[in-house]
Amino acid sequence: MKARRSIIEPFKIKVVEPLPLRTIEEREAILASVGFNLFGIRAADVTFDFLTDSGTTAMSASQWGAMMTADESYAGSRSFYRFEEVVRRITGYDHIIPTHQGRAAEHLVFSLHAKRGQLVPSNNHFDTTRANLEQLGVEAIDLVCAEARDPTTEVPFKGNVDLGRLDAFLREHRGRVPFVMTTITNNSGGGQPVSLENLRGVSAICRREGIPFLLDACRFAENAWFIKVREPGQGHRTPRDIAREMFDLADGCLVSAKKDGLVNIGGFIALRDGAWVPDLRSRLILTEGFPTYGGLAARDLEALAVGLDEVLDERYLAYREAVTRYVADGLKRVGVPTMRPPGGHAVYVDARALLPHIPPAQFPAQALAVELYRAEGVRSCEIGSVMFGEHAALELVRLAIPRRVYTQAHMDYVLEGIAEIAERRDTLRGLRIVEQPSFLRHFTARFAPA
Ligand code: F0G
Repeated sequence: MKARRSIIEPFKIKVVEPLPLRTIEEREAILASVGFNLFGIRAADVTFDFLTDSGTTAMSASQWGAMMTADESYAGSRSFYRFEEVVRRITGYDHIIPTHQGRAAEHLVFSLHAKRGQLVPSNNHFDTTRANLEQLGVEAIDLVCAEARDPTTEVPFKGNVDLGRLDAFLREHRGRVPFVMTTITNNSGGGQPVSLENLRGVSAICRREGIPFLLDACRFAENAWFIKVREPGQGHRTPRDIAREMFDLADGCLVSAKKDGLVNIGGFIALRDGAWVPDLRSRLILTEGFPTYGGLAARDLEALAVGLDEVLDERYLAYREAVTRYVADGLKRVGVPTMRPPGGHAVYVDARALLPHIPPAQFPAQALAVELYRAEGVRSCEIGSVMFGEHAALELVRLAIPRRVYTQAHMDYVLEGIAEIAERRDTLRGLRIVEQPSFLRHFTARFAPA
C-alpha cells in the first residue's frame, strides 16, 4: 500500500455487537446503586469499556476458524503441539507450559522457586506479580529508572530498569535473589517500553551474578514495536526479529496471553533450561491441569497459536501505537494532561493536574472516572489514592484500549466528551469513602459525594 499520513485499522469487520447506550439519568441511578464504584457496574450499562486491555480483544476470523478445528483430547492434543511450536518459534525457548492466565504462571514459578526472606527486583512489578510474591514472604523490589517518575517528560524508554541500582542491589544481597524480572511493557509505570540496550544491561548483570532473568512478557509485541520505532539502529528490523532478541537476552518468560496473545483467556511459562520443568509440570497437574492443556480448552490454545503470530504483524502494531497516540494527542489539544509519551495499551489522564481543586483525600481520579461514566458512559480505572491510599504518587485515570474493538469514530466521540468535561472541570466535586474492605479496597469500596 502507498505510504499515507493516515494509519488505518488493518482489518475489516465481520461480526458486530450493539454498543450499549444509556441515558445520563439511567447512569446516575446506576452510579448511586453501586456506590460510585465502576467495578460494580454491569458491562451492559457501559458504552465504552476502557477498564482493561486484558482478555477484551476482538479475535480474527482465522482465530475463530482455528478454534473449530481444535483437538480436545485430554493428553497430547494436536492443538497443544501447534501452540508449542508457535511459542518456541517466537521465543526460542524449548520448554512451554500453558496456564489459564498470567497470575497462574506467576503462582507456579514463584511458589516453587522463591522463598520467604528472598528478594525479587524488577522495573515495576504488576499488582498480581507483587501480591503473588508477597504472600510467599518474598519482597518485590521496584528498580525502574528515575525518568519514570515524571509524567511530563518525553523520554522514549521510561520502562527501563535503573542498571546502576540493579547492579548495586545484587552485589549487596548476594544469595538472596532467586531471579530478576523485567515487565515489558511496564504496565504499572504507564505501559512504557524497555529498550534492547537496557535488556542487554540487565542480562549482562544477571549472567555475571549467575541469577536467572525472567521477562513478564504479556505486552512483548508492543515492546518490540516501540524498540523498532524509538531505539536508534533498530528501525530496519521486524518486530519478530526484535522480540526474538528480547527473549534471547532472558532465560524465560511468564506471559498473560490475554494481552498480546490476542485472546480472551490464556497464559504460559516458557523456559530455555529444563531444570525447573519437572516440578513445574507436577504442580501444574495439581492446580491447573495436564501439561498439554494447563487449564485451557484446546480451542483456546488454537486461538492463541494464531494470535501470537498475528500480533507481530507490522501493520497491526503501527495501528495499535497510533490509537494510544491519537487519544493522548487529542486530549492534549483540549488541555487534558496525560502521562507522556503515550505507552502501548493505555492512556493515563493526570487527574491531579486537571482537577487541582480536589484534594487527594477526596480522590480526584475517582471523581473524574465517575464523571466520565456519568456523562459519557466511559468506564475507566482509577490508579491513585483509592487504589494505593496515601502511598499514591500520582492521581491517574487509566483508559486501557481493548485490541481491535473500537474504531476511530468511537475515539473521536470519547475525545469530544472528555473535552466537554474538561471545559466544566471546576464543577466536578470530590468523593468520600463510606464503606471499604480491609484490603484491595478499590474493587468494592462505596463512595458518596464529599
Ligand atoms: N503482568 C502484567 C504486566 C499484567 O499487566 C497483568 C495483568 C498480569 C501480569 C496478570 O495477568 O490478568 O492474565 O492473570 N494485567 C491486567 C490489567 C489485569 O488490567 O492491566 P492475568
